[in-house]
Amino acid sequence: MSDKCKKIYITTPIYYVNDVAHIGHAYTTIIADVLARYSRLVGYDTFFLTGTDEHGQKIEQSASARGKTPKEYADIISGEFKKLWDDFDIIYDKFIRTTDDYHKNGVQKAFLKMYENGDIYKGEYEGYYCVSCETFFPENQLIDGEGCPDCGRPTQILKEESYFFRLSKYQDKLLEWYKNNPECILPKSKRNEIVNFVESGLKDLSISRTSFDWGVKLPAELNEPKHVMYVWLDALMNYITALGYGNAEENMQYWPAKVQLVGKDILRFHAIYWPAFLMSLDLPLPHHIAAHGWWTRDGQKMSKSKGNVVNPKEVADAYGLDAFRYFMLREVPFGQDGDFSQKALIDRINSDLGNDLGNLLNRIIGMSGKYSDFQVSSKDVSTYHQKEIDTVNEVLENVEKLIYDMQLNRYLEELWKLLSIANKSIGDYEPWAKIKEGKVDEANALVALVVNILAKVSVLLYPVMPERISKIAYSLGIEINTSSYESLIKNRALLNDTTISKIDPLFPRIEEPLLATPTVTVEEKPKAKESVKEEASINEDGLIGIEQFMNVTLKVATVVEAEEVPKSSKLLKLQVDCGEENLRQIIAGIKEYYSPADLVGTQVCIVANLKPAKLMGMLSQGMILAAKDENGLALIRPEKPKITGTQIK
Ligand code: MSP
Repeated sequence: MSDKCKKIYITTPIYYVNDVAHIGHAYTTIIADVLARYSRLVGYDTFFLTGTDEHGQKIEQSASARGKTPKEYADIISGEFKKLWDDFDIIYDKFIRTTDDYHKNGVQKAFLKMYENGDIYKGEYEGYYCVSCETFFPENQLIDGEGCPDCGRPTQILKEESYFFRLSKYQDKLLEWYKNNPECILPKSKRNEIVNFVESGLKDLSISRTSFDWGVKLPAELNEPKHVMYVWLDALMNYITALGYGNAEENMQYWPAKVQLVGKDILRFHAIYWPAFLMSLDLPLPHHIAAHGWWTRDGQKMSKSKGNVVNPKEVADAYGLDAFRYFMLREVPFGQDGDFSQKALIDRINSDLGNDLGNLLNRIIGMSGKYSDFQVSSKDVSTYHQKEIDTVNEVLENVEKLIYDMQLNRYLEELWKLLSIANKSIGDYEPWAKIKEGKVDEANALVALVVNILAKVSVLLYPVMPERISKIAYSLGIEINTSSYESLIKNRALLNDTTISKIDPLFPRIEEPLLATPTVTVEEKPKAKESVKEEASINEDGLIGIEQFMNVTLKVATVVEAEEVPKSSKLLKLQVDCGEENLRQIIAGIKEYYSPADLVGTQVCIVANLKPAKLMGMLSQGMILAAKDENGLALIRPEKPKITGTQIK
């Protein structure tokens, strides 16, 4: 198949309509938009899906708390998501709502097919159910015999007649899929977590409910009017019903998806249930399920009760949508948790965007005006700058695979390498001195080199910052489309003669935070029992609520490297693996009690969501737990070896 006909299908999770959009939703959707725009630029036939997940008990409850029917309520919140994506210039091909008839019909067809294939049977389910997470949990995972292990809220015991999906039957097939497709789950470190989970044994999955009715009914053929489908079965099917599965199948040629973006909290549903359902439906499996980390604000978990939820619209309105898009992708390696602060955003805008990119463009507009009346020709670039061009081409050789590998921050870093070649060449070649020496051709060749680099960077940056880059393209006299991509990037060609136009500075320097207070997501919810609990702070008796404890992420980590910190009697420098893509560096005050050799290969427990700090100038990204008394210090370690990255609860 030629590249042109290659089909690329990109999906976001469909968002629950019990809450308005926040920075986490914007993050996933922006990444998907970047991938889709990149795919279109390359010339692939691209389909980008997003939408809203509208069934389930949680939504039924949220609606009734507001005196609305679930559908009325879903219409409002779904509309708000759609409006936000329109304001954010997100170019999706379809916005699915799980309350749409074609979706419900498609899900019923899928259910029936799985039933006919012998993968669904009727039984009885009894278990601890968390309404908030829409999930049953085994007793041994509950907090204090009652609390949901994911959100801490009380679970309820539910016993009901239920249909089950034979998930256990797919255990080996799933393991085979993970093994034969090392990149099926990205980042790769997340794949190991899933493999370990599946290896520990899969139970059949309860996939229908009789305790509420806001959901898709089972297929009429089963004659079970009391049952509605488990909301995750309904929701996951959106990825194929959106393409016409069970109906006209009009877009099924886009399946399997190239990238399915999800947050780390919903990876299990996507990496275990979803492929098992697809196997049961005899459909191919997606190429990549890519799980991103979570955003905190100024080092703290976001929550409405703290009033610190980042409203993406306010941030984008204040700082510019493109700067916000760039920041989100550049600041955090995909898969890791990230922290939003205005300071970090301002630093990125002033340094990366203002200095490295914006100033470079301004300088080149000025030079081209002075030296050649804004006319730029690439004719002498190879004569004077073949070395730089070779380096640029080397970067181009490797940069593109980073996109579908979901290494988006690395992708941007590579593009910034190109900008630094351009900035450095201006310093090294001093075109103003060449002009004084009468070497006009050399000065113009340097300007042309920089214009060429800016043009190539612009093409590849366009998916990330479409609006600002269109302005740069105008200034350079180029267009950004599949044919400029082919010529400048794929064929490594240099620009034809071009005329530079002046434009206003694109990223004016920002001195002060532009948003005075935390930007709180607009909607005030009526207080449900849970949110009252969430607000509980330290009581007079010094006790804390479970939510406060749950704000601290404790993990099992494995020490990979350890060394003494020179000139310090107390500190050791450790590199620990805590199940993330990259190792973390932790500076620990344990040198008096442990030697590096004692530690390497052993497991420790760490606080994983501490704000990074510097100790003796070295970054420390966490804290190791230890107990110290008059007899010395002992590290707190799991009693039995545990999978690296396992959360401690
Ligand atoms: N409806 C389900 C998804 C069904 S997909 C078949 C759902 N919806 S959600 O609205 O609760 O979450 C949607 C996405 O937002 C998830 O991928 C989740 O990880 C992400 N985020 C929610 N809070 C987040 C942050 N604070 N930071 C980053 N993303 C987070 O789950």
